[in-house]
Amino acid sequence: MNNAMRATLEVADRIGPDADAPVADKAVATGALLVAERMTRRFGGLVANQDVCISLERGKLHALLGPNGAGKSTCINMLSGDLPPSEGTIRFMGRDITALSAAQRSQVGIGRSYQRTNIFPQFTVLENVRLAAQSRRQQPWRIFSRAMQQQWALQKARACIEEAGLGKRVDWTAGVLSHGEQRQLEIAMVLATDAQVLLLDEPLAGMGSDESAKMVEVLKRLRQTRAILLVEHDMDAVFAVADVITVMVNGQVLESGPPEQIKASVAVQQAYLGSEDSFHV
Ligand SMILES: Nc1ncnc2c1ncn2[C@@H]1O[C@H](COP(=O)(O)OP(=O)(O)OP(=O)(O)O)[C@@H](O)[C@H]1O
Ligand SMILES: [Mg+2]
Repeated sequence: MNNAMRATLEVADRIGPDADAPVADKAVATGALLVAERMTRRFGGLVANQDVCISLERGKLHALLGPNGAGKSTCINMLSGDLPPSEGTIRFMGRDITALSAAQRSQVGIGRSYQRTNIFPQFTVLENVRLAAQSRRQQPWRIFSRAMQQQWALQKARACIEEAGLGKRVDWTAGVLSHGEQRQLEIAMVLATDAQVLLLDEPLAGMGSDESAKMVEVLKRLRQTRAILLVEHDMDAVFAVADVITVMVNGQVLESGPPEQIKASVAVQQAYLGSEDSFHV
């Protein structure tokens, strides 16, 4: 059994048995971890997402593109549990999780970062990530002594900080990190929750080219063992890392497929005409 299969079975164990799907078998066979079917979200008369279907597989980075207001954050909010869909179904490893809250989804292995940075600036990098590690799996803590809990959480935090490329900043106060490093810290915090699916809303926003390149390297590493959904306006970065790209316009999926297909799509190019982003790849 390889590492990806082992991780999948561990997650299946976490979300528990489900009557309507052979969870682990199906997920191991297809690699699909998170699948949304016909997701719709209305805000009064506005349809922010309409019949959106999206599938996230372990080992793949799925980029979500679209002009401002296309519905990308709304899509992520529904997948993470921050926003209930008006219609549609979301499955994690075959199990219907549409009714689960954001906290419950975090517990089963769905992690997200926000469009705005979300850290404790007065705490160190290590403290931020340790708190994130301790935020999940409340029950098993009871069998450990306090010292063992702290030891475990610190070890876990250090490993996640390393994985997010922040190894040299462990003891720095989070508030003094550069903007790019703060985004890396957020990723480390998501990793510390044992997330198998990473939902990342514009993690490269506001970064310089060096910082972006660093983050792209981190994302390439992370997707090897997890499923990633990346919302991003930076086309160069998207085409450098994406295995699959979905383009949304006006709340609907315009096109979805491998980068070459999206690059050649006349419909996609037309959708970007007059938008703030230029589709230049
Ligand atoms: N809580 C809300 N209440 C009302 N309308 C909303 C809400 N959230 C989003 N919308 C609307 O839904 C549409 C999609 O917004 P969304 O934030 O998902 O777009 P986006 O693709 O993430 O845009 P951006 O690239 O600017 O981040 C927009 O018209 C937005 O104004
Ligand atoms: Mg957005």
